This record gives sequence, structure tokens and C-alpha cells, in this order.
Amino acid sequence: MLDRIRAEVTAAGGWISFARYMELALHAPGMGYYARGARQFGAEGDFVTAPELGALFGRTLARQLHELPGPILELGAGSGALAEALLQELDREYWILETSSPLRERQAQRLGSRVRFLERLPERFRGVIVANEVVDAMPVHAVAWRANGVMERGVTRDLKWEERPATGEVLKEAKAIDVPVPYESELGLAARGWMRTLGAQLEQGVILVIDYGFPRHEYYHPQRSMGTLMCHTRHRAHGDPFLHPGQQDITAHVDFSALAGAAREAGLDLIGYATQAQFLVNCGITEVLAQANLDNALHYAPIAAEAQQLLSPAEMGELFKVLAVGRGVNTPLLGFSRGERSHTL
Ligand SMILES: C[S@@+](CC[C@H](N)C(=O)[O-])C[C@H]1O[C@@H](n2cnc3c(N)ncnc32)[C@H](O)[C@@H]1O
Repeated sequence: MLDRIRAEVTAAGGWISFARYMELALHAPGMGYYARGARQFGAEGDFVTAPELGALFGRTLARQLHELPGPILELGAGSGALAEALLQELDREYWILETSSPLRERQAQRLGSRVRFLERLPERFRGVIVANEVVDAMPVHAVAWRANGVMERGVTRDLKWEERPATGEVLKEAKAIDVPVPYESELGLAARGWMRTLGAQLEQGVILVIDYGFPRHEYYHPQRSMGTLMCHTRHRAHGDPFLHPGQQDITAHVDFSALAGAAREAGLDLIGYATQAQFLVNCGITEVLAQANLDNALHYAPIAAEAQQLLSPAEMGELFKVLAVGRGVNTPLLGFSRGERSHTL
């Protein structure tokens, strides 16, 4: 992985953007963190996602998906845990688009003939698209607002940060953000491009993006002056993206205002925006919990603990958000029936 990165930096004249570095470190075929077949998820891995905690998240989300017609297309399905939980609740066509070939194999083994794997986005799609913790793995540009102007933070051959004056789209986008200098943060240009593509190809239906992040005014808050880059290895989080490239997860929080803006540019409607806790409560997580075996505390305790992790403001409840955008959807969605916060985007 190091040789691969160094060769590319040398070929590029000694500097590559952080976005390119992140793309290689996470997704380079056979070597990147997601592409090399490591065990990323769960107790044995580096981090736990909502579907990895148990089936409660999927069973609750299924209540929302039940209301929306058409096939379900899951993007970035990880270990296949969410697909498995949803398929237990819903009798529906289920498609997966996964960029990592080892993960695709793992999903196929777990889910068998119940899912269809897509190589690329369908040119016209009618149905529901779900992406849980996928956008945080998309490459981000690293930007520094300095007294002498906007700089782009890139990567040298010996894996060190180096700043150069920002140009092009990075400069244009960064200049539109009002922050006190000095200030460092990220720009999710790849995520916006992804949303525009999805938007162009969605003929009718809903895109649900679930991830950790903020609306713009919180993302570029004066107190968040070191940005949101975070790395995960063995359930430890730290801020050094150059440690063991390919061996650790690198993520950035999601700027939900930017994603909603990109969706609008693609002609989609903003349908809803809520915290994960509010969304799951609206979908009826308490009813799903009540179906658990209350007579046996040994069965109930783990499910109650799962609910606590999904809902608690100290865990995933507040930091994680659910954004719904779509086309041709005329009925309100269950998950946004109370406490909807689109006005903050
Ligand atoms: C953090 S994992 C989340 C996995 C799963 N959704 C979950 O919640 O457990 C990110 C997943 O997205 C995949 N991925 C990353 N970028 C993608 C993209 N542009 N399109 C589709 N999948 C992508 C990764 O290979 C991985 O499966």
C-alpha cells in the first residue's frame, strides 16, 4: 500500500490531494481498507455500525420501507447484516451495489439467492435506495483557511501534510464557507457528486442516507476548527490518517446541508431530515421492542442495550442523522412524522 501511494505521489510531482490519498487508502483494489477483505465490522473488528449491533435497527427501518413501493437498493452493504434483518421483515426484491469485492463475496455467502448484486447504478431506478454509513467512507478534500487565503492540505511522499494554495472547485466551495481563521476542515465533494448521480438516475422513489454528521452551520462551527477526520482501528478512534494506510478506517462526518443541496440540484425534493433517535422512535422502535420476550430478562437485556445505543444522545442517537430525498413521493414518511428538522439544513 505504501509503495502504491508513494509511486502515485512521485508521478504527480510530490503531492496528491488528501481526497486521492483517502480513496487509495480505503478503496485501492486488493490493498485499500475496504478492498482487501479484512474483518472491519463487529466485536472482532475495528468499529460497530447500527446493523452490526443486532436486528433492532433493521426491524425498525423495515417499518418505514414497508410503506415505500419498489425494490430496495442497498449501497455499501458491509457484512450484509442490514440486508438480512430487512429481508426477515419484508418480502421484496433486494439489490446491493458494493464497491469492495471481498465484501460482495461475504454478502453473497450470507444472503444467497435472496439478493441481486449490481455492478453499477441502474440508469433508471424506481424504488428505495438505502445507504447506512457509506457516505462517511467517501473521500474528502482537506482544506485550511489561513490568514493568507484558502489552502488545500495534501499528502507528500513521506506521508506528511503539505499545504498548497487551493484552486478550482475546492477554492470555490471553501470560499463560500464562513469560518474564523485559522481553521481546518473537510469538503465532501465526492459525496455531492454521488448524490447528483443518484438523483439523475432516480426516476421515482426515495433515497435514505443514514450517517454521522451535521447541518452546515454545525459542521463548520467555530469550535470545530480541527475538522472531523477520524480513524478507527480495533475500537479505538484517533486522528492520524497516515498511520498504517490500508489497515485502518478513515472517515469524515457528513455535511448534510451539502448533500441536500446536491439532491436539490439533481431535481430531487427534500422529504425529511431527523436525528436517528427521532427517526427510529417515529418508525415505532418501542413497538418492535415490546415484541421482544419480556418474560425472560436474559433475552430482553441485550435488545434493551441495543436500543440504548441506537437512541441515546451520548451514543448514536443525536450524532447520527437520517436524510430522505426523493422524486414523485407525495405521502409523508413515517420516520419524519414528528420532530422533523429540515429547517436546520
Ligand atoms: C462503514 S461500511 C458500512 C457498512 C454497512 N452499511 C453497515 O452499516 O454496517 C461502508 C460500506 O460502504 C462501501 N462503500 C464505500 N464507498 C462506496 C460507494 N461509493 N458505493 C457503494 N459502496 C461503497 C464499503 O465497501 C462498505 O461496505
